[in-house]
Amino acid sequence: MKDFAGKTAVITGGGTGMGRELARQLVAEGCNVAMCDVSAEAMAETKALCEVERLPQGLRVTTHVADVSIEDQLKRFRDEMSEQQSTDRIHLLFNNAGIGGGGSLFSNSREQWERTFNICWGGVYFGVRTFLPMLLKADEGHIVNTSSVNGFWASIGPGVSHTAYSAAKFAVKGFTEALITDLRLNAPHIKCSVVMPGHIGTSIVSNSRKVQTGNDRLTADDLTQARQRMKAAGIDTTAMSDEDIQNIAIERARAFREEAPMTAAAAAKIILDGVKADRWRILVGDDAHRLDERVRQTPEQAYDVDFFQSFAAEVGWRLS
Ligand SMILES: NC(=O)c1ccc[n+]([C@@H]2O[C@H](COP(=O)([O-])OP(=O)(O)OC[C@H]3O[C@@H](n4cnc5c(N)ncnc54)[C@H](O)[C@@H]3O)[C@@H](O)[C@H]2O)c1
Repeated sequence: MKDFAGKTAVITGGGTGMGRELARQLVAEGCNVAMCDVSAEAMAETKALCEVERLPQGLRVTTHVADVSIEDQLKRFRDEMSEQQSTDRIHLLFNNAGIGGGGSLFSNSREQWERTFNICWGGVYFGVRTFLPMLLKADEGHIVNTSSVNGFWASIGPGVSHTAYSAAKFAVKGFTEALITDLRLNAPHIKCSVVMPGHIGTSIVSNSRKVQTGNDRLTADDLTQARQRMKAAGIDTTAMSDEDIQNIAIERARAFREEAPMTAAAAAKIILDGVKADRWRILVGDDAHRLDERVRQTPEQAYDVDFFQSFAAEVGWRLS
């Protein structure tokens, strides 16, 4: 797809981060956008940002509250957007919504694990199922599924359990790669890409907590885990109060957003350029490119402590 003007895009998780920036850049290129999110407030902000410049005549930006892990809510989103945008077809589908958390089979509940897995994997799967009929009706289409570097490397460092997110992101990558052939055989006018970002400066840390627990404060279990994690990293937490640990978590979420090597806007531009260049694999960020090379060079070492430490030092990661 060489340009987006006059087309219609669906974006999941358009409320903040990369979804928001995708919406802004698509609208700036004259593309109609329909987004969903669990936060109506965040989407209202995205919509206002999209409309800072006067929208060209007839261009539509619509917002729809829907949880991507629930198929019926995605179907409602599809029916609402079809009506509000007066269309029976879409050209672009960005399955972008995602959260972290629920990483351990031991210290997280099954509910937390499945919440992350069902959003990160189920959201992509249901998204494709729900919107495929509308993509089929367009003259050309592109499905963009957001995985992560955790789609080819199942870790964020040796001190942190990360099973739910990694399992989901590997699934997104495998599904999208297999979809290349399925689409070529059955719907050659539709292409697809898997997006694998490295560290991008967004509010995913605090948003994930909100989706998992209803607010952005650590629960009692989270506090216990945070203490265990800090202990494993050689930090003595015995003199720290729970409030001290909460403050460290707030600072960590801020640093994740503000001290990242790449902004969400720069990431969205790379994703859209990748779609225009018809690339099926879109690595986002220098860290993602370097990690991809390293894992291929030394797969057997990928989960060794040394592998992480030397990689983190090379790219400046301070995630765990
Ligand atoms: N930020 C990073 O470093 C990074 C790295 C690799 C991959 N990713 C992936 O990129 C995608 C976008 O993440 P981001 O960093 O922009 O995060 P973000 O938290 O800023 O944006 C994600 C949006 O999805 C929404 N959302 C969460 N659960 C939802 C649900 N069940 N239904 C609908 N909407 C939901 C959130 O409210 C939020 O607005 C995610 O899939 C994430 O896993 C992010």
